[in-house]
Amino acid sequence: MLEKKDFYSLLESRKSIRKFKKDPVPKDVLERILAGAMQAPSGKNRQNWEFYVVQGKKRDQYLKHSQHSWLGIKDILKERLKPSLYDFTERFFFTLGDAPVLLFAFSNNSTDEKYLTSIGSVYMAVENLNLACLVEGLGCCTMGAPLEIKDEVVEFLGLKDNPKIKSGELELLCGVVLGYPDHNPPKAPRQTEGRVHWLE
Ligand SMILES: Cc1cc2nc3c(=O)[nH]c(=O)nc-3n(C[C@H](O)[C@H](O)[C@H](O)COP(=O)(O)O)c2cc1C
Repeated sequence: MLEKKDFYSLLESRKSIRKFKKDPVPKDVLERILAGAMQAPSGKNRQNWEFYVVQGKKRDQYLKHSQHSWLGIKDILKERLKPSLYDFTERFFFTLGDAPVLLFAFSNNSTDEKYLTSIGSVYMAVENLNLACLVEGLGCCTMGAPLEIKDEVVEFLGLKDNPKIKSGELELLCGVVLGYPDHNPPKAPRQTEGRVHWLE
């Protein structure tokens, strides 16, 4: 049985990793973390997630698209980040930190379910996946950047002519880069002040 303190320290130890060893991730490990992801709850139990796993040459081909996604966010980050972090982030978008595996998470939307519920269900699976990476000794970074180039990503994955994509029934929600960590960044401090409201 998992100790309570171990569980909470696992949650506290999760942080985004943006620099990876080039070592491949064995398929059985990937299958386990994806199975873990899909243990998440989902609205009306629709289990409306779908994942695309990209590795090898196909992964290398994605780098040029990642560089395009940088163009969509670099100006905002220039204002927000100190120069050294901005440079690190730019390099990350150009190399994806050498991550050997890219995942893309999609939602199957439905008129039977509220849109936000569908989206939330997939993100719950993505958080499970973040935690499963930790217990496997992997690191990962969830990325909204692919949404800057949604059409490009959809085409890259061979989904351009998929009618469910065209109708918005199948929707890209995020990317995740993952692999064995090659850095140990400081934990971003949590801001809990004023975030919880108690009523009686
Ligand atoms: C929905 C979502 C989108 C994100 N998009 C990006 C991204 O495009 N690029 C990136 O480097 N990090 C991205 N992140 C990671 C956040 O920057 C990171 O979670 C946050 O700074 C807190 O750091 P931590 O994950 O180490 O606790 C994203 C995280 C989430 C949940």
